[in-house]
Amino acid sequence: MNKVIRTIKLTTAAAAFSVTTAHAEDVEVLHWWTSGGEAAALNVLKQDLETQGIGWQDMPVAGGGGTEAMTVLRARVTAGDPPTAVQALGFDILDWGNQGALANLNDLAAQEGWDEVVPEALQFFAKVDGKWISAPVNVHSTNWVWANKSVLDANGIAVPETWEDFVAAVETLKAAGITPIAHGGQAWQDATVFDAVAMSAGGPEFYKAAFIDLDEETLGSDTMKEAFDRMTFIRDNVDDNFSGRDWNLATAMVINGEAGFQMMGDWAKGEFLNAGKVPGEDFLCFRFPGTQDQVTFNADQFMMFDQGGTVSQEQAALASAILSPSFQIAFNKVKGSVPARTDVDGSELDACGQQGMKDLAAAASSGNLFGSMAHGHAAPASVKNAVYDVVTAHFNGEYDSETAVLELVDAVSIAK
Ligand code: GAL
Repeated sequence: MNKVIRTIKLTTAAAAFSVTTAHAEDVEVLHWWTSGGEAAALNVLKQDLETQGIGWQDMPVAGGGGTEAMTVLRARVTAGDPPTAVQALGFDILDWGNQGALANLNDLAAQEGWDEVVPEALQFFAKVDGKWISAPVNVHSTNWVWANKSVLDANGIAVPETWEDFVAAVETLKAAGITPIAHGGQAWQDATVFDAVAMSAGGPEFYKAAFIDLDEETLGSDTMKEAFDRMTFIRDNVDDNFSGRDWNLATAMVINGEAGFQMMGDWAKGEFLNAGKVPGEDFLCFRFPGTQDQVTFNADQFMMFDQGGTVSQEQAALASAILSPSFQIAFNKVKGSVPARTDVDGSELDACGQQGMKDLAAAASSGNLFGSMAHGHAAPASVKNAVYDVVTAHFNGEYDSETAVLELVDAVSIAK
């Protein structure tokens, strides 16, 4: 094993090609990166492996946020046929790791010094019992707003700093006959908006107490009711066809100037870039008003499934490629996220990417970096799904904010 890794690391690309083609199998990779921007980013990884002579069997499972992908994964594992590598988030990785289903990547991690360069917040989700079990690709964050610059300019709207500014901007767009907020009504998207809205309504301590500590009093508080009331305002300012819409189609509404804003993680930037749009000129990125000092993050990782006790050559090559500094920049430039290593130079990233890196470092050092509830980094899947159910039912008018608060307390206490 070590010899294989050394071979990959020390030989030139051409020599490595002849070595790896002799033994490596294809990698079969299960993932949910099916939008234009996501697919463009994934191509960076596929091409990287191709140069090492490793083939790629694609196993895409559409559905933003990965809910459907995780269902397909469970079926594959139950059938005794796990893929080589699987895109996964936060607590899902820990679940599989705790079940003993994942390969131990420690030899490779030690050789490449992952401990020294991957931030602790990510290591927390990449290791079980001191063993590296997955390879972090990036850091995304969910408390962003994406705006069409000409729409804002034409309506005299400056970047909103507070919730009240945001309300005023939305009212201005509505009065001008433009859909203020582009949104896709799927549970994970409602929850993505809720991450930022709750943080903005209650601040960082509130967010942590509610979604990370799962404190009953906080979940049932008046501040939580305020968060739900703000969700009602957002619901009132999306278009009539929002139900079931994919997130990237909502992004397209902002790209085309049909809508002013989208609240979405920074994978949305991948769609703008894929459409040839330039940050600061065609579109604006800014933190959800009232969360300028906070970052709610999620990090995509590839977990490697155990294939009989050893890390296969292709798994090692995939993990090594993912963690390499050049890949981290090349990939994240396209994906919209920022690198999962602290030692890479971000000057090649665009303005939004550079702001993302700066915000992440500042939030980490000021204690303002929190796992995203919507994207599996605040609480295990059972709790996340319970929150999804309540947020979505409320968003779709099944009950009012007061009832939503009571439902949330109940649902979380049953799920945790
Ligand atoms: C997130 C994932 C991102 C992006 C998004 C929409 O959970 O971390 O990489 O793909 O879903 O599909």
